[in-house]
Amino acid sequence: MKKVFIETLGCAMNVRDTEHIIAELNKKNSYEPIDTLEDADLIIINTCSVREKPVAKLFSELGIFNKKKKDGAKIGVCGCTASHLGKDIIKRAPYVDFVVGARNVSKISQAVNTPKMVAIDINNDDTTFEFEEYRNSLYRCSINISLGCDKSCTYCIVPATRGQEISIPQEIIINEIKKAVQKGAKEAFLLGQNVNNYGTNFSDGREKTNFTNLLKEVSKIDGIERIRFTSPHPLHMDDEFIEEFAQNPKICKAIHVPLQSGSTKVLKNMKRGYTKEWFLNRCEKIRSLVPNVRISTDIIVGFPGESDEDFADTLDVIKKVKFEQIFNFKYSPRPHTAAIDMKDQISSEVSTKRLNDVIELHKIHQDETMNSFLDQTVDVFFEDLKPNGEIFGYTDNYASVFVKGSEELLGKVLPVKITKAYRTSLFGEILETK
Ligand code: SAH
Ligand code: SF4
Ligand code: F3S
Repeated sequence: MKKVFIETLGCAMNVRDTEHIIAELNKKNSYEPIDTLEDADLIIINTCSVREKPVAKLFSELGIFNKKKKDGAKIGVCGCTASHLGKDIIKRAPYVDFVVGARNVSKISQAVNTPKMVAIDINNDDTTFEFEEYRNSLYRCSINISLGCDKSCTYCIVPATRGQEISIPQEIIINEIKKAVQKGAKEAFLLGQNVNNYGTNFSDGREKTNFTNLLKEVSKIDGIERIRFTSPHPLHMDDEFIEEFAQNPKICKAIHVPLQSGSTKVLKNMKRGYTKEWFLNRCEKIRSLVPNVRISTDIIVGFPGESDEDFADTLDVIKKVKFEQIFNFKYSPRPHTAAIDMKDQISSEVSTKRLNDVIELHKIHQDETMNSFLDQTVDVFFEDLKPNGEIFGYTDNYASVFVKGSEELLGKVLPVKITKAYRTSLFGEILETK
């Protein structure tokens, strides 16, 4: 067996693509994954393009990897930056052997054996391709339910790197989950840029369906105890979806509701398709139906034209919703997006100040919500053994919990009494072993 080292940047979909890349290389090219770059016969960076920073990181890392690699080892660039820069990557870093875009994972085996191959067609339909099985986790199976994105948020490069949205047929999704269950998976993690737009566009022209129906079907699979998904879009959070989320006991009570901005004016300029009021109304409905829900969000500060009043609306939404987790970003101008040419770009100083305001406000809510776990008993699904002898897992509502324990707890859901609360994680003691 030859050895492949893969570094994965970006989102959960890229993590899943890496699993597919490993599976393909394993079956067709006899590679097995390793953690040490120096021993690898093939080095791959699975890139992200969503902000400028990861792109800059790619070129600095390529240089480092090229110096560290063993003689004769190949280097490949995959993922979203591969899609958007294509052959320019080989121009800038001539030692790169191939470039395979985010929508071209099925071409990876061919690319490894074709010098300087560049495969970046974003109309490529990877759904027709049956990937081999490979998973990072025995207990959680990540499953793509759709590829690409049909929205055109004016700041976002993803539609240009992953192409148009196509839903993967339900039977493929269900079969994949059933296969993973046979190998020990208990949690299904459904992935797409817009999961709750599932079912509107299939490549074989079949009848439309929707995400709520898919959730119902997945929850019928024996052996699946927990269902998670990311990312849903606030625009498609209709009552039927929220009610299913609330009522279905297998669906974890954690939900990502990406705000981006609290200002209706900015949301319009971002082409998000909802208003501040709609967003608040959806979160209120979720909180009223699911009292223990944890809501996470994404926020961009410093979008072109964002005034102090607009930003005050973002803080206002944060105060009202009290998100349990916020992923916050300074707006980063991206090629192939409408916002790059917008007037009124905001200075870096103003964006930094706003980012800090978000972080400080969020800290108050984090402390409040994490402290509320103290002395509570929660069910934790243990999935990872840490080097310091702690076992790690998530609660149903996606809080991180560490306990002292050993390997035999992995893959089990056990009651834990929380004894310490930190800002981003909890520590506790197992009450009994089932
Ligand atoms: N499909 C998901 C988001 C995928 S990108 C959704 O709609 O929620 C993940 C996050 O990166 C986005 O939610 C957004 O907050 C952030 N992001 C995307 N483009 C960005 C840009 N140009 N600058 C800063 N943050 C950006
Ligand atoms: Fe980007 Fe918007 Fe699509 Fe999310 S929904 S991937 S933010 S274009
Ligand atoms: Fe990055 Fe592509 Fe995901 S740009 S966030 S890896 S969809």
